Amino acid sequence: MFVRTVTAASLALVGAVTAIGACNGGASAADGDAACDEFNPPTPPDGPTPAFNNFCNWSSADAMNPEDAADGIHGLGALKVYWNQSPPAGSKSFPIGTIIVKESEQQDPTNRVAFAMVKRGCGFNVDGANGWEWWSLSDNGDCTMKMLWRGVQAPVTESYGGTPVGNCNGCHEQVVDNDYVWDTALQLSNF
Ligand code: HEC
Repeated sequence: MFVRTVTAASLALVGAVTAIGACNGGASAADGDAACDEFNPPTPPDGPTPAFNNFCNWSSADAMNPEDAADGIHGLGALKVYWNQSPPAGSKSFPIGTIIVKESEQQDPTNRVAFAMVKRGCGFNVDGANGWEWWSLSDNGDCTMKMLWRGVQAPVTESYGGTPVGNCNGCHEQVVDNDYVWDTALQLSNF
């Protein structure tokens, strides 16, 4: 019994060290090192960002959260969330490759404000919403999106109506128990 425990612990340790080594490989991780299993959607300079193509036909729901917390984009009226894949039942986190879009609902899609979080995994944004990348998008009006910015944080200059959009990580870290995702429709316990 004792021996078995020690063996399991050593194996876990070896696994952890290997994973850290792979993720800290610098350029190799950014280049899509398979060991790291990172999801990093390409963003061609012209035209839509392919990972978001057809987003308007993904699963969707009215955007709301259980605590009715302010969401950093005020005065835009109703919002909608879209997600490209639902997590398997019983998941404690969203799988790598998950994309969640939140968009305002103006009649003219090209006037809408859209944000997204993309599950990259691989230690991405480890000091913030672990594994998630933040995105700002503009709606092309044909069910495609173009990237405005992406990263572990919003650019400091980013604001709407004079109000800074603030710290994406800070607000979303309040719901670390749901893998940094707020929306009622996206509670892991509901899948
Ligand atoms: C003031 C707190 C706050 C800030 C700052 C904030 N968010 Fe959120 N965010 C929320 C809340 C609350 C929700 C859920 C309600 C909703 O969807 O409107 C949410 C929802 C989302 C969603 C839909 C997935 C989910 O978590 O439910 C995305 C995508 C998103 N935010 C992206 C961003 C990005 C990108 C930034 C930074 C530019 C940001 N958020 C900044 C509070 C915040």
